[in-house]
Amino acid sequence: MKRVAVLTSGGDAPGMNAAIRAVVRTAIYHHLEAVGVMRGFEGLIDGDFVPLNRASVGGIIHRGGTILKTARSERFKTEAGLDRALFQLKNAAIDGLVIIGGDGSFRGGQKLYEKGVSVIGVPGTIDNDVAGTDETIGFDTAVNTALEAVKKLRDTASSHDRLFIVEVMGREAGFIALEVAVASGAEYLVVPELPFSLGRLCDKLHDTRARGKTHSLIIVAEGAMSAATLRSELKDTAGYDARVTVLGYIQRGGSPTSFDAILASRMGAFAVESLLDGKKGMMVGTVAHQMSLCSLSDSWQVNKILSPEKLELVEKLSI
Ligand code: F6P
Repeated sequence: MKRVAVLTSGGDAPGMNAAIRAVVRTAIYHHLEAVGVMRGFEGLIDGDFVPLNRASVGGIIHRGGTILKTARSERFKTEAGLDRALFQLKNAAIDGLVIIGGDGSFRGGQKLYEKGVSVIGVPGTIDNDVAGTDETIGFDTAVNTALEAVKKLRDTASSHDRLFIVEVMGREAGFIALEVAVASGAEYLVVPELPFSLGRLCDKLHDTRARGKTHSLIIVAEGAMSAATLRSELKDTAGYDARVTVLGYIQRGGSPTSFDAILASRMGAFAVESLLDGKKGMMVGTVAHQMSLCSLSDSWQVNKILSPEKLELVEKLSI
């Protein structure tokens, strides 16, 4: 193996730059050449490659976003797009490709792997909805960003004796919502993984008020329903007048937490060393804090579940 390429794909996540840095520096450490692919699979199709050296990844470990930029590529889903990407990889004499992204990016990586490319995936998404790893790069930062906002909302909710609904990201999954709910002491959590009952929520709000609690916080995952819909349902059914905050893309930005910067550094380095070990069609991860590998397809075929213990905590501690 002589030349390793790295790309970021899908939604950006804090810590992607730290992962790029780790891939490049580990490659150079092992006397390999490193190449960056701009704009994910779009840049792969266009042959938009940049040589990366030790200095090109200096001063980026703490920066949010991705210096390689990212995209959601429709062209790569076509036969012509895939063929063009294969041609560009061959033309640039790339022997190994590290893909930093979520399960959508790994589906793309799987197609390249099936055509003979040595692909290793590094899970980078704020959603944490990738099986085969306990955490994805960016998740911890997104949770902390959301938590900071929720703590501020708690101040105003309590001062005005108000009910607040906060919508967090997560695509089809409730991982961000669950962590934020536990850490903020939310009174109620709505996630796509569990059936929602408006009746149960109204009963809970009624009970907490009857016990003298004058403000409440509901965390809703975007994949379950919008905060606006929940607000209308609460108003129409029980007359509750809730305030709504949608945290949105702010959750994707910012400097990675120490947890994410370290996770990204470990994963990026392990990805290159796995390629050197002859591994391909695999994703790096951490299981019980140890570095691990699983097949790329596990990342979307295996069901990753919310922690039953944490779900119970939200229920138990919000009495
Ligand atoms: O996957 C990360 C994420 O931020 C999700 O939480 C969200 O649903 C989605 O990306 C938004 O995607 P886009 O950037 O395409 O609007």
